[in-house]
Amino acid sequence: MARYLVTSALPYANGPLHLGHLAGAYLPADIYVRFLRLRGEDVVFVCGTDEHGVPITLTAERQGRTPREVVDEYHEVIRRDFEAFGIGFDNFSRTSRPEHFRFAQEVFLDLLGKGYIMEKPMRQLYCSSCSRFLPDRYVLGTCPRCGSGGARGDQCESCGSWLDALDLVEPRCSICSSRPVPRETRHWFLRLDLFQGWLREWLDGREGWRDNVLNYCRGWLDEGLQERAITRDIDWGVPVPLEGAGGKVLYVWFEALLGYVSSTRELFERRGRPDAWREYWNGTDTRLVHFIGKDNIVFHAVIEPAILHGLGGFVLPWNVPANEFLNISGQKQSTSRGTAVWMGDYLRALPPDPMRYALAINAPEGRDTEFSWAEFRARNNELADVLGNFVNRTVSFAHREFGGEIPRGGAPGEAEAALFASAASMRDELAEHISAFRLKAACAGAMALAREGNRYFDAAEPWRRIKSDREGCALSIRTCLQFIDWLRVAFSPFLPFTAEAIGAMVPPAASGWDSVGVPGLSEGIALGRPAILFGKLDEAFDGPGSLSAGASAPAAPRGGEKERKDGASAEGLLGMADFGRVDLRVGIVLSATPVEGADKLLKLMVDIGEDSPRQVVAGIRKWYSPETLPGRRVVVVCNLEPAVLRGVESRGMILASVGEEGVFIVEPGAGARPGDRVR
Ligand code: MF3
Ligand code: ZN
Repeated sequence: MARYLVTSALPYANGPLHLGHLAGAYLPADIYVRFLRLRGEDVVFVCGTDEHGVPITLTAERQGRTPREVVDEYHEVIRRDFEAFGIGFDNFSRTSRPEHFRFAQEVFLDLLGKGYIMEKPMRQLYCSSCSRFLPDRYVLGTCPRCGSGGARGDQCESCGSWLDALDLVEPRCSICSSRPVPRETRHWFLRLDLFQGWLREWLDGREGWRDNVLNYCRGWLDEGLQERAITRDIDWGVPVPLEGAGGKVLYVWFEALLGYVSSTRELFERRGRPDAWREYWNGTDTRLVHFIGKDNIVFHAVIEPAILHGLGGFVLPWNVPANEFLNISGQKQSTSRGTAVWMGDYLRALPPDPMRYALAINAPEGRDTEFSWAEFRARNNELADVLGNFVNRTVSFAHREFGGEIPRGGAPGEAEAALFASAASMRDELAEHISAFRLKAACAGAMALAREGNRYFDAAEPWRRIKSDREGCALSIRTCLQFIDWLRVAFSPFLPFTAEAIGAMVPPAASGWDSVGVPGLSEGIALGRPAILFGKLDEAFDGPGSLSAGASAPAAPRGGEKERKDGASAEGLLGMADFGRVDLRVGIVLSATPVEGADKLLKLMVDIGEDSPRQVVAGIRKWYSPETLPGRRVVVVCNLEPAVLRGVESRGMILASVGEEGVFIVEPGAGARPGDRVR
């Protein structure tokens, strides 16, 4: 059996990560790994922070801190964000560990000994006002290839070319902006030229690789590979392990790529089998898969293979599924330009799974994708309407009519057979997509399966049938519950948290990928309480910032036609979580005016804290004259679906008691402030 060694690009520990990072190299890898695990494959999934190099030292200099402080802080931030998004690395390491230093130094010496690394004089840009050489991003200028202005000494962000700082047009020092001049120095070089022929042949033999990856590499080879400096003059990094190396360190890319190996080593040390990493890295049947963003292609598909081949006895990448970029609301996600949406900011407002879904189904697989908050809202609501609704109405029905157990009775017929068959064929289709790194298609397929479930429920009409054919109704509900168990498995690579929540309602029977489509649910088993899986987002939603701080469940609980049709939530008790989804807040009335042509209605403008003033139409004109209202405290239902009353929009509702003596506004005490939550 093949072993899988799956990696995600090691993020620089110089800032938090944004949604573009997540969509590019982390979420796809996690989905892939979760799928492999469901299939019972032997998988190791490693990552860690990339803690050296100019990106770190520059950040530290700008923030007036030491590089150590910077990487310690961001390693933790990044690790926590990944965990909260459910990215399930087996090990999340750091390249500043001493074990990584030792391994990188060993590799350097090994390649030096084999003649793949050589020392030679070179010219490098030197800033005389800063009295230092300017490696990589310490130089800015115009890209010699695409002419874009913001190119950095190592790479052009616009065209992705890996540059030599000496080739930049109009170079300037990124610290003091003065013009650096070339100066003589010495460095160690990786002899990529020696790998040219081997690399071309190897790349020609790759099967199932994305065109963008292969084309990019061929373009590189066509230009002819040259030796590349793999040491730098900075004092933060892995020292060159030679006497008289003069304070030089290994180039961050050279050692960071080796971080995949040292992270695997750390993992197995922790597991008490310190040599087992070799079974993966030196085994012949390992499938090494690197998930990366497209700006990392050359490093993973050219440089790393050359290094590993040069070392000998190491596995080479089996695939390098590189993703393109994700733009949000028309903007490239860029840390430096401040257009990024941070993973942490999203998570403070909303749960992880809706974003995992939205990013998977819009994955930038073949080309850059545009992602908007309107699209996110639509995808979130799709989850609520299709998957959430199906699970909720089925489980609620079983509680209401069948004592909260998986109902017995009824003999499966054609409709059931057809539904089961669709699950089995979708299982295979999804597996094919995921195995070929088409996660977007797989995600859409899982949703198509959930739609099948809803269609079956609608056609079976259990809410009608319960009155005349209890057995038939039991069969339909049991069939839906069985289907939900499969949906849980099929969705679990994409929506791991939701899968857990489903499992808490319908006790899991299916366990691996292959059990999807194979009936396994036992009758008579007790179900958990029905819970709402996804909150809907209303039209006012325009990114996580548009939600009130601390509100973890978005927007209005779903109501309306569908649910009343099958009665799923019309009766029974309200769970605390459901109640918590009603956003009740203290407001202060700012103004009140009659609504034209409506003798019952007043239009109120209310200060509800954030997102104020809020316009609410209230049917209290008979009981309150407008001039008595300004200044009064009220309780506003803030996440009610907007309504239009007599041509006036109302976004919320004022609470009032309604009785024989009349209508009385509910008034919080004098200490309550606009925006305070009411519970
Ligand atoms: N830190 C790099 C980046 O964020 C990626 C390094 S991947 C590794 O672009 F393989 F070199 F670790
Ligand atoms: Zn300078």
